Amino acid sequence: MTEAGPTEASRPKRFLSGVQPSGKLHLGNYFGAIKQHVELQNEGEAYYFIANYHALTTIHDAEQLRQNTRDVAATYLALGLDPKKAVFFRQSDIPEVTELTWLLGTVTGMGLLERAVSYKDKVARGLQASVGLFTYPVLMAADILAYGSDIVPVGQDQVQHVEMTQDMAEYFNNTYGCQVFRRPEYRLTKTAKVPGTDGQKMSKSYGNTIGIFSTGSELKKAVMGVVTDSTPLEEPKDPSKCTVFTLYGLFATPQEHEEMAAKYRKGGYGYGSAKKELLAKVDAFFAPYRERRNQLLAHPSEIDDVLVEGARRARAVARETLDAARSACGV
Ligand code: ADP
Ligand code: TRP
Repeated sequence: MTEAGPTEASRPKRFLSGVQPSGKLHLGNYFGAIKQHVELQNEGEAYYFIANYHALTTIHDAEQLRQNTRDVAATYLALGLDPKKAVFFRQSDIPEVTELTWLLGTVTGMGLLERAVSYKDKVARGLQASVGLFTYPVLMAADILAYGSDIVPVGQDQVQHVEMTQDMAEYFNNTYGCQVFRRPEYRLTKTAKVPGTDGQKMSKSYGNTIGIFSTGSELKKAVMGVVTDSTPLEEPKDPSKCTVFTLYGLFATPQEHEEMAAKYRKGGYGYGSAKKELLAKVDAFFAPYRERRNQLLAHPSEIDDVLVEGARRARAVARETLDAARSACGV
């Protein structure tokens, strides 16, 4: 039996997640992912990375990718990721992971990847069916297994990828009669899906987002553009059917949320007024984080230093896993 260092039973729980630098982060990303990531850094060993290799399956503009990467890093750091607690790095700074991707690919059947819903969805939406897009789950499995991750906090859309990772770990361990890889489990966020301005799931692919760091007229346009029904101002309204009310609940205290519900039910309260209250909440909630983010973006070398130091720590762990995997398969 070959034991990799990171599979020792005694260490604290290890959380790992990746975020693609593929566009501006929005309220869905904050309440569905970032908030939880920041909280988990106090509950165990947290590893978070910017999945720029995954983003290459959709972005082929170097300057845009660089900018997005810096933007995601500044966003996480501004929103409370503490690089002294969490290991925070760029995926591409860990060559061990791409090497591990090859080893896993050699024990993974085509059938497993052919069942990936995310791949089929992306191709159906018109993305180029590249080899990279097809083998995306193998790279993701390597990301997860390289650090001996116990828990992978992700959204519903990534659950299948974590299950495929479990399969790949098992194939490898069985093929070589070893215990190199630890079985990871996914963890879904408690926040159900955050609705976008059109009432569907907020997603950058649907163009219905409200950006975490939008301000001024941009923020106002997004919030005032939330789709509502045509109930006249004076009539009573059902708060549970209104996207403005749902979004307001993400920021308001339970009492404030209840007060708004009462105004809806009473009548004489228009959607325009509710939107103004929502706008004020979003603006005030992110104001201190916005300032911190601007400071960070004014000193990009500090962001870079954080990521380089994170990569140094992450590489040490990935190296041990890779050495054990190489030894198990005879290279
Ligand atoms: P997008 O749908 O905008 O492309 P991603 O797929 O990059 O967003 O999501 C990054 C993270 O944010 C994932 O963990 C995902 O589950 C979470 N997330 C994205 N949109 C929402 C949403 N509307 N509600 C809750 N969580 C979300
Ligand atoms: N595929 C994930 C997404 O699009 C990002 C990601 C890459 C990831 N590697 C990961 C998430 C490993 C969790 C663990 O959201």
